[in-house]
Amino acid sequence: MNIFNNINELRNSLRGKVPIAFVPTMGNLHTGHLALVERAKQSSDCVVVSIFINRLQFLPHEDFDRYPQTLEDDCRSLSALNVNSVFAPDEKILFPTPQEFLLALPSIADTLEGKFRPGFFRGVATIVLKLLNIVQPQVAVFGKKDYQQLHIIREMVRQLNIPVEIVACETVRAQDGLALSSRNQYLDREQRKEACRLFQTLSQLKNEIASGRKDFPALQQQATQLLSQRGWSVDYLSIHKRSSLMPAQAHDEDLVILGAAWLGKTRLIDNLEI
Ligand code: PAF
Repeated sequence: MNIFNNINELRNSLRGKVPIAFVPTMGNLHTGHLALVERAKQSSDCVVVSIFINRLQFLPHEDFDRYPQTLEDDCRSLSALNVNSVFAPDEKILFPTPQEFLLALPSIADTLEGKFRPGFFRGVATIVLKLLNIVQPQVAVFGKKDYQQLHIIREMVRQLNIPVEIVACETVRAQDGLALSSRNQYLDREQRKEACRLFQTLSQLKNEIASGRKDFPALQQQATQLLSQRGWSVDYLSIHKRSSLMPAQAHDEDLVILGAAWLGKTRLIDNLEI
């Protein structure tokens, strides 16, 4: 496995390799990331994984400075999976000058995550576009855990005619249902026990809807109240159409429930398709 910091060296090593399957990450890899890599391997013998903590997608008060950095361990895990190339650039390689060109995103990027993390998706879309331009893969794999991110990247690729197939991977969960995330390690022991409640709440909502309830605002409110009573601070728990991520109406089908909530100082997100 080759580890690249330099863009030209990465590109030279990839010359003539088709198809390339790409998995962008911010490192601190867990089983969820490794599932993305396994999926990429189904599409190609040539898998490239990027590891880059992207400053553009963090708000000033967020955890950019303490985001876990575990490059050595990450490379060990990726090597064990026979990944071809890791692209782990320094900041000055991706941002040799301040990144003044930023994408303008559709209004869906200002809802849900975007409402609570203004500018987040602009930062994500801009770095993903840069990485796609650098790696020029035929396939790129993203997790459904970041459901809105996946939606926005799909739309970006479609509307900007980027020649890459976006492949979605199911969320990997701990035994108790908690979606795997690098941020789970911020939870203390008590919080970790409580954390699976977010998924349980989404599952209860799913059951209610599956049994025919259509009063989505009331369901959302009830679920929010239940979590709040247990000490969570809920940013949103909300039922949407899968295709557009617009709020679901009673007659809509193919829905997804999206949630984000704080447990102490840790913000967890999750979602469940119905
Ligand atoms: O999902 C992530 O880890 C990040 O948002 C991504 C896609 C690697 C862009 O920095």
